[in-house]
Amino acid sequence: MTNPARSLALVALLAFAGFAAAEHCLPGDGTGCWPSQAEVKALVDSLSSEAEVYLPTGPNADMYMSYATDTPGNTLKPSSPGLIVFPMNEGDVRKVVTFAAKFRIRLVGKCSGHDQLQRSNGYGVIQLVTTKGFRNISYNETDHTITFGAGNAHKDVYAFLADRKRFAVGGTWAYVCPAGCLSNGCYGFFTKEFGSGADNVVGLRFMLFNGTTLNLDAAGPHRDLFWAILGGGASSYGVLLGITAKTYEAPDQFIIMKVFLSIWPTGLTKDQAPSVFTRFLTNLTWYQALPPHISWQLDNNPAEQRVLLQISYTGRTTVDVATEELSGLVAEWTEAGYFQEHGVEGYSDVADFAVKNSGAGPPIRRVSQSIYVDANQDALDKVAALWETLYSDAYMSPVGSDPFDGAFNFWAQYRYGPGSYAGKAPHVARGMRTAMMEIAHENVWMRQADDSFRAAISNDVKELMEPLGNTSYQNHCSTWAEYNVYVDYKTRFYQNWEGLTAVKKKYDPCNLYVVQYGPGWDLPKATCGLSTTSTKRPPPKRPPPRRHA
Ligand SMILES: Cc1cc2nc3c(=O)[nH]c(=O)nc-3n(C[C@H](O)[C@H](O)[C@H](O)COP(=O)(O)OP(=O)(O)OC[C@H]3O[C@@H](n4cnc5c(N)ncnc54)[C@H](O)[C@@H]3O)c2cc1C
Ligand SMILES: *[C@@H]1O[C@H](CO)[C@@H](O)[C@H](O)[C@H]1NC(C)=O
Ligand SMILES: *[C@@H]1O[C@H](CO)[C@@H](O)[C@H](O)[C@H]1NC(C)=O
Ligand SMILES: *[C@@H]1O[C@H](CO)[C@@H](O)[C@H](O)[C@H]1NC(C)=O
Ligand SMILES: *[C@@H]1O[C@H](CO)[C@@H](O)[C@H](O)[C@H]1NC(C)=O
Ligand SMILES: *[C@@H]1O[C@H](CO)[C@@H](O)[C@H](O)[C@H]1NC(C)=O
Repeated sequence: MTNPARSLALVALLAFAGFAAAEHCLPGDGTGCWPSQAEVKALVDSLSSEAEVYLPTGPNADMYMSYATDTPGNTLKPSSPGLIVFPMNEGDVRKVVTFAAKFRIRLVGKCSGHDQLQRSNGYGVIQLVTTKGFRNISYNETDHTITFGAGNAHKDVYAFLADRKRFAVGGTWAYVCPAGCLSNGCYGFFTKEFGSGADNVVGLRFMLFNGTTLNLDAAGPHRDLFWAILGGGASSYGVLLGITAKTYEAPDQFIIMKVFLSIWPTGLTKDQAPSVFTRFLTNLTWYQALPPHISWQLDNNPAEQRVLLQISYTGRTTVDVATEELSGLVAEWTEAGYFQEHGVEGYSDVADFAVKNSGAGPPIRRVSQSIYVDANQDALDKVAALWETLYSDAYMSPVGSDPFDGAFNFWAQYRYGPGSYAGKAPHVARGMRTAMMEIAHENVWMRQADDSFRAAISNDVKELMEPLGNTSYQNHCSTWAEYNVYVDYKTRFYQNWEGLTAVKKKYDPCNLYVVQYGPGWDLPKATCGLSTTSTKRPPPKRPPPRRHA
């Protein structure tokens, strides 16, 4: 049965592909040419009737634009993909994956589009979006694991488990997907206690460039690939299809306490007393005495000369016990003169919190950087000095009319402790195992025309932050043009780069799946294709005529 929307789209595709064949042939650099109209049409025709295909021109061009450019946090594009496919089953994925490998076209998996590195797009690539066909969730009553699709967001997983009074370790943001998050570790409310998301995965379903599907786990014959995917860079090895993860018994209530602290004690100046950073927030002795079920995000606010701590309490105790422990913290801050105000918010579960405290957000342009700061007092003292500087000097980007326009934030995640130190995923950045916290700065604006004007401040602050730690959370580092360039990416973002490169060569021997700063990025790309006879297509003799949709 013919899908009418698909037929309309194909008309547009023919027009686009004709144009593309002339423009997208890149002889000499190892990549193939964009396939002919007939070849693309044959691919699209072969997909299941429910699969959707978005194209840059024609009746669904608005949908194409939405997915190609407007996804929150993912708008710094060097260019756009040639084809966006929403596969409905593994058969669809296999057809697209082998098509891409045959023509040596770059393909990337995509879930929410929250990626900060522009990896979900590029010149002439195919985007394979899992958010429609890969969302099945099931729970195993015997071993208490959850199995879900590469298209599920954290909120789907958390809400499903909340009904069973369980939780899984993952990110704090409702709309981010485990699929991309896990590829660099993935931290959240439970990380200090139970490790990163990657440490808690027990199985993956994965497809290689040649359409072979593998069930991966920590002990099986492909454990090298299993661990490479969990920390070794997104979309560097093939396409993730599904994830199986451990779950834990949930607390009765999930509590978040929001506390505002002043930088200097009330009535005192910087010459008379230590800053709140020195006394508490960069004080290793003090931090180490806190239980692992208390962790937080710190948001700096120089304009108001105060910080906001969003403290999550994940202890599986009663609300009374939790309240008492949290009141103890407030009493310490009050006594020392830094406490300003607080509010306690109870949520039924993590999904409830995540949904109420995350938003889709408008399309933005962003430069961000992250540094893991070791649990080492010398390193922490440098953070205190930097933060005090950022509070005294006005490091502010020119602010536009929209609150997102020109917002310059610096923040920290205090999610590290016994759980993350004991985690087993071997390729995540070293800081996941040694850090007390992750510090970051983030510069956000709206219009491309403002790039050079707004982004400059980020390079200044990057210079100041870089000496504070030699590893970073890649999921929080964006880089483009001359902004945020990382020459030490092999050691900064990963452990055991050589091991990751070996995995790459074994499972993606043609180096077809490459992302910026991921394994294989330093090697020749698309050196071969799927066809064993001839992988080199001659360039078209002359461009096919352009047609109108
Ligand atoms: C607002 C916001 C909040 C965040 N909160 C957290 C947080 O609490 N904890 C945390 O650890 N991180 C957090 N992050 C960072 C987040 O983990 C990364 O941005 C991550 O890359 C998002 O993954 P995604 O799959 O949702 O996004 P996408 O952009 O869809 O994918 C990200 C990367 O994964 C690849 N990928 C996606 N799906 C597949 C697949 N099926 N097969 C192969 N490759 C695939 C993509 O190609 C891309 O390279 C946050 C980011 C933002 C913008
Ligand atoms: C999802 O579940 C449906 C119904 O049980 C099933 O038909 C489909 O094959 C499943 N999809 C995947 C990707 O497992
Ligand atoms: C559930 O887990 C048990 C123990 O690991 C396993 O034997 C069983 O096959 C799993 N069930 C399903 C449906 O995967
Ligand atoms: C660090 O915290 C400990 C425990 O609260 C405290 O005794 C010590 O004075 C603090 N250090 C600084 C420099 O304030
Ligand atoms: C990074 O810093 C750690 C100590 O914090 C040190 O042991 C390691 O050698 C450094 N690595 C590099 C590549 O500089
Ligand atoms: C697919 O590629 C992998 C890795 O190179 C290889 O082990 C496997 O045999 C290939 N599968 C097929 C069907 O060729």
